[in-house]
Amino acid sequence: MKENLTHSVFEIVSGCAEEMNVQAFVIGGWVRDLFLKRESKDIDFVCTGSGIELAQRVAKKISGEVHVNVYKNFGTAQITFGDYIFEFVGARKESYDHTSRKPAVETGTLQDDQSRRDFTINALAISLNKKNYGELIDPFGGTEDLKNKIIRTPLNADITYSDDPLRMMRAIRFAAQLGFSIEKKSFDAIVKNKDRIKIVSRERIADELNKIILSPKPSVGFKLLFDSGLLEIIFPQFVLLRGVEYADGKGHKDNFFHTLEVLDNLSRKSNDLWLRWAAVLHDIAKPQTKRFEEGHGWTFHGHEDRGARMVPKIFSELRLPQNEKMKYVQKLVMLHLRPIALSKEVTDSAVRRLLFEAGDDIDDLMLLCEADITSKNPEKVKRYLRNFEIVRQKLKEVEERDKIRNWQPPVTGEIIMKTFNLPPSKTVGIIKDAIREAILDGVIKNNYEEAYQLMLRKAKELGFEKVND
Ligand code: CTP
Repeated sequence: MKENLTHSVFEIVSGCAEEMNVQAFVIGGWVRDLFLKRESKDIDFVCTGSGIELAQRVAKKISGEVHVNVYKNFGTAQITFGDYIFEFVGARKESYDHTSRKPAVETGTLQDDQSRRDFTINALAISLNKKNYGELIDPFGGTEDLKNKIIRTPLNADITYSDDPLRMMRAIRFAAQLGFSIEKKSFDAIVKNKDRIKIVSRERIADELNKIILSPKPSVGFKLLFDSGLLEIIFPQFVLLRGVEYADGKGHKDNFFHTLEVLDNLSRKSNDLWLRWAAVLHDIAKPQTKRFEEGHGWTFHGHEDRGARMVPKIFSELRLPQNEKMKYVQKLVMLHLRPIALSKEVTDSAVRRLLFEAGDDIDDLMLLCEADITSKNPEKVKRYLRNFEIVRQKLKEVEERDKIRNWQPPVTGEIIMKTFNLPPSKTVGIIKDAIREAILDGVIKNNYEEAYQLMLRKAKELGFEKVND
């Protein structure tokens, strides 16, 4: 192990712990990631004394820009050093009150501290003490579980999850992130304790959900969330997508599995959290818009529009940001059928309209739509993909020619007001809209001269004559 502890901070912590006459260890996620060969800049230290004092001593010995944050109430301290965050805590025993995630804390031994942790793979410690510097301390078989790719709790799973129900989300998140499986006993304990997730703040839940969405194959995490019953509690709208209804012997696709397939497809192309959220939500209103129409079969008319309108409430319930990220997701949900519709009939004006509405998000929208092709019929898939190529080509041509992406009106409201000596009014809006529509329909070119002439014609129609040049 010794050769891995090259970072000089370990030597410094070791020296400071010796001065204090306490034992110190590196513990938790950093040690796990060392074995998994994942880079990690968060390093947790535990000592058999005051974590705060240890942090203060260490900070004094690190040369360079160092910042120490002390959290007296928690008995922890944090040092930020460049990209690194070093966290210090005294070894502890914890006992939990049933109604909260905040434990009563007592000083304990290293083993007490390891056994209070969530998973065996997160309970590994490496000694920083002179007598056994670099030795791995693994009382719960964490390295074996890393090898066998298993998520398991050090103590009775029922207690570990009941003590801190966020760990149920963490178990599923680690399973999704690392491609591990959750030990059966542990999964059963999650099912049993699922309702206790309600005592966890929604921000923490959203954090874990976002990490699941950002994992290499997010469907893995979603299926575990569903099977455990947690999804129903934290994100009930998504669970409604599940199931197939039949009428006249005709079924529709199961939109739960379809959405997960879209999400996995997209995740192979993009790591963007919000684009992935757009995939999660693209069909969210299908249950609410589902109809069986004689002669047509199952339809979901208007699900894109209704879905876009559901986004703010879902974001608010999940404590996701109510800002331009949300608007971006809304926009993609709203537009997600448009490229498919376009591929059936690619007219210049339809392409211009899509470019106008999607703006800079057009490439993301195309990625989402391609991911939305989940047909099992290879002929169909081939045909859709070919059509999308045509749409992409057309988008490029039209954009090069007409510059519609991030379109700015060539004749502004100010020019209209000045030309006809008008105050800000409905008339100005009518003229502006007429110019925009004429450009999008291809009636006039996207330039000042043609827009100016159209403005004169439209104003005349409305009974206004030019007053100023
Ligand atoms: N831990 C725990 N129970 C929790 C959260 C954390 O037992 N609910 C312990 C684990 O030992 C974990 C360590 O605290 O390894 C540090 O937690 P954190 O930094 O949140 O997670 P990491 O395991 O480092 O993983 P990640 O950075 O991916 O969140």
